[in-house]
Amino acid sequence: MGIEGGPKFNPEEQDPPTPKTETEKVKNIKPETKKAGGIIRNFLDTRSQRKKQEKVRFQEGQWGDYDSEFWHFAGFFAECLPEEYKHKGWEEGLKSYIENTLSREETTDQREKSKLTAVEFGGPGSKFFRGFSNGFFEKTIGVCLVDIRGENLKNEDSSLNHYVVAGNILGADTNETLNEVKTMLDTTKVDLIVSRMQGALKGMDMNLLDDAVRQWYALLNENGVMFIQYNWASSSDKREDNVAAKCIEMIKGKYPQLDVQLGRGVMRLHKKLDDPEQLPENAHFFVQNPDQNI
Ligand SMILES: C[S@@+](CC[C@H](N)C(=O)[O-])C[C@H]1O[C@@H](n2cnc3c(N)ncnc32)[C@H](O)[C@@H]1O
Repeated sequence: MGIEGGPKFNPEEQDPPTPKTETEKVKNIKPETKKAGGIIRNFLDTRSQRKKQEKVRFQEGQWGDYDSEFWHFAGFFAECLPEEYKHKGWEEGLKSYIENTLSREETTDQREKSKLTAVEFGGPGSKFFRGFSNGFFEKTIGVCLVDIRGENLKNEDSSLNHYVVAGNILGADTNETLNEVKTMLDTTKVDLIVSRMQGALKGMDMNLLDDAVRQWYALLNENGVMFIQYNWASSSDKREDNVAAKCIEMIKGKYPQLDVQLGRGVMRLHKKLDDPEQLPENAHFFVQNPDQNI
């Protein structure tokens, strides 16, 4: 025994031979030691996950602007309203534009039309959605990194059919979050999408916001409307407005009927019946793309 391949190891009789290389050392760790290592690693992973979650939860309570009132949104998006709504006053302008537009007899699917839904991406939306006529939306959702609402607010929101989804709206987790939103709304399409992330836009990878906006457009129902803030320092920095304007010009070269309007750092887009179901994949509103040819 053992002449050709050296001594054979019988685990029941003896300890394993001492490993010589690092790889051998790792391979030869006793099962019980491996198990203990796994438990410790899991414990550390869970602890570091918990710490990260606590940090995000803490940060969520620290935003200067958080769960803003309807009029904050209205002032922000006033510049990208159609002319006839600009002179109504901020709140009345935004409210009447959205309610008039979504009430039009334009949708082909009456079921979807009778159940209007709306989502705020990047905020809890509890106060924002109270700015609309009572019961105008069947159900509304706010999506933010964590849900820090207290029990009272949760109960009030539920009584108004408003809910919060805690999830990431950018990058790899986007699909999971969007699926959760659709499940909660019990629909595959949404009539109003709003995003006003304010300070959270600072330092954000704008490629991710570009991807998100294309996904949100695809999520919009026929005759749906979306309002997006893309520059939190919009009054002093016009560069991003120029990038967005160039992209819109190119999209309009192919779809001249598209109703899209910019204000400083904000954009409104109305998806009408004859508009494309999806935006072109190479439509980059917020990142300069020299090869952009739509
Ligand atoms: C400054 S607060 C603005 C909240 C609200 N939109 C408002 O106007 O009051 C920024 C919000 O963006 C959310 N946010 C930032 N990055 C996000 C991400 N990747 N996914 C989901 N929410 C995000 C945060 O959770 C937070 O609720």
